[in-house]
Amino acid sequence: MLPLLLLLLAPQGCGARYEPTWESLDSRPLPPWFDELKFGIFIHWGVFSVPAFGSEWFWWYWQKEKREPYVKFMETHYPPGFRYEDFGPLFTAEFFDANQWADILQASGAKYVVLTSKHHEGFTLWGSKYSWNWNAVNLGPKQDIVAALATAIRKRTDLRFGLYHSLFEWFNPLFLYDASNVFNTRQFPTAKSLPELYEIVTKYQPEILWSDGDGNAPDTYWNSTGFLAWLYNDSPVRDTVVTNDRWGAGSICKHGGYYTCSDRYNPGHLLPHKWENCMTIDKQSWGYRSNTKLSDYLTIEELVKQLVETVSCGGNLLMNIGPTHDGRIAIVFEERLRQMGFWLKINGEAIYGTKPWRTQNDTITSGVWYTFKPKDDVVYAVFLNWPVSGTLELGDPKTIVGETESCLLDMCDWKEGQDTQEGLKAYCSMTIRFKVSNQSLTKANINSVSLVEIKPPGTIIFRGQGRLFSVYINPTPQSKKPKPNQTKKSPTTVNDLVQSNVNCM
Ligand SMILES: *[C@@H]1O[C@H](CO)[C@@H](O)[C@H](O)[C@H]1NC(C)=O
Ligand SMILES: *[C@@H]1O[C@H](CO)[C@@H](O)[C@H](O)[C@H]1NC(C)=O
Ligand SMILES: *[C@@H]1O[C@H](CO)[C@@H](O)[C@H](O)[C@H]1NC(C)=O
Ligand SMILES: *[C@@H]1O[C@H](CO)[C@@H](O)[C@H](O)[C@H]1NC(C)=O
Repeated sequence: MLPLLLLLLAPQGCGARYEPTWESLDSRPLPPWFDELKFGIFIHWGVFSVPAFGSEWFWWYWQKEKREPYVKFMETHYPPGFRYEDFGPLFTAEFFDANQWADILQASGAKYVVLTSKHHEGFTLWGSKYSWNWNAVNLGPKQDIVAALATAIRKRTDLRFGLYHSLFEWFNPLFLYDASNVFNTRQFPTAKSLPELYEIVTKYQPEILWSDGDGNAPDTYWNSTGFLAWLYNDSPVRDTVVTNDRWGAGSICKHGGYYTCSDRYNPGHLLPHKWENCMTIDKQSWGYRSNTKLSDYLTIEELVKQLVETVSCGGNLLMNIGPTHDGRIAIVFEERLRQMGFWLKINGEAIYGTKPWRTQNDTITSGVWYTFKPKDDVVYAVFLNWPVSGTLELGDPKTIVGETESCLLDMCDWKEGQDTQEGLKAYCSMTIRFKVSNQSLTKANINSVSLVEIKPPGTIIFRGQGRLFSVYINPTPQSKKPKPNQTKKSPTTVNDLVQSNVNCM
């Protein structure tokens, strides 16, 4: 009896093996680290960063679709007969400093990074055996970019390292041949995409494999299930690797690891399956563009909004930057990254390691989003705008007079922002922390910025009169540092304040 019993139990344990079928692969639990970390940075870098015009789809728009702005751009700036391949040597990366990139990424508060190891143009940022003379070691940077960034990230930061990989390549003759046979031949995946995937996993051990670009070919053409079974069963990252859902036509939002569904996906409501909102700071492009206007970049307020909405609805945010051909993270991207880091230093407690609450956004006040830490019985209400009226009304935390505990995470000047050492104009939206029990009742003291009224059942009113930030607030248990004396001002009028300085524990 015993051996049979063990045999039956084995597949449930850590020795579980996955079959190359979606049914089996989809049953793999997502490694928990991914949901806990919430926020990553996407990096789109490649030969498309050389023309740096329009989009990282430059080659396709210029040569295949022959879009006018692209054709004109080439006529104006490059000699006749210039080919896309001729951009390769111009991808110089002379200012690329992987350590500096790592430090900026760390400062953003992100907990993982995903680099385009190869985009649809086919140029590999590592010295691939399968990308002869069209890779960063032989051409352009003359160094293994993937290795350099992986090493710097792992040595200097606590971020997890991930790789994006495009299955198809727009103009690869083998791919075009297979496409002309309606994918009944499989020369390209056999000779190119699959060997590359095994190569990057084995060499760089990425903990995220962000697949993209199915080229309208089914997953059977790509042998995605065969590859994923190897990845989950036998690869060096089998215990920790996380994958997305772009593994062949029809697999998106349906199969694989977490769902991405579409670019810039942000449904605004809770989803039952783990998902990720991959989006760009430059609203129009993933690759760097020289021809941007300031208004093309999302502001820090808009970026924080994306993060908060996404996390509240059970997603992760993957925020994209596009470095320049010479290896710089442009100052505007660096500023946004550092601003995110500043916001997260104060409000990160409401982001990292949280779960969705029973409701996502407030029913009375728009722009208030909830997150939840079940283990600590804590609910966070992140409010993205300070109400002009000076009153914030919340409809969802269930309250009991005298028993509801809330706490503002931190304070900074709402109107003026705050200049930090880095010279940043920071953005400080606010988070209220509630202590709850049994997911619905809230309990204990009140501690708030200025005035709190509780109107049971179900409404808490915060009132600020626009003078909120001249009020001293006790430090949260997370940051025990005393506040600098300058913030410890008395309220200007008695009405501004009914209750403050209640201990925030
Ligand atoms: C798909 O991949 C698996 C695992 O590497 C392999 O055993 C199988 O032969 C492949 N199938 C095809 C059709 O290439
Ligand atoms: C909550 O969010 C949804 C989705 O963004 C939106 O349609 C709805 O209006 C929001 N509710 C409030 C009260 O703002
Ligand atoms: C929690 O709430 C549920 C539903 O309201 C109730 O049945 C249960 O007894 C509560 N548990 C505790 C420990 O209070
Ligand atoms: C802050 O004020 C307290 C009390 O007035 C004083 O003892 C302390 O030295 C001050 N700290 C600083 C940094 O000015």
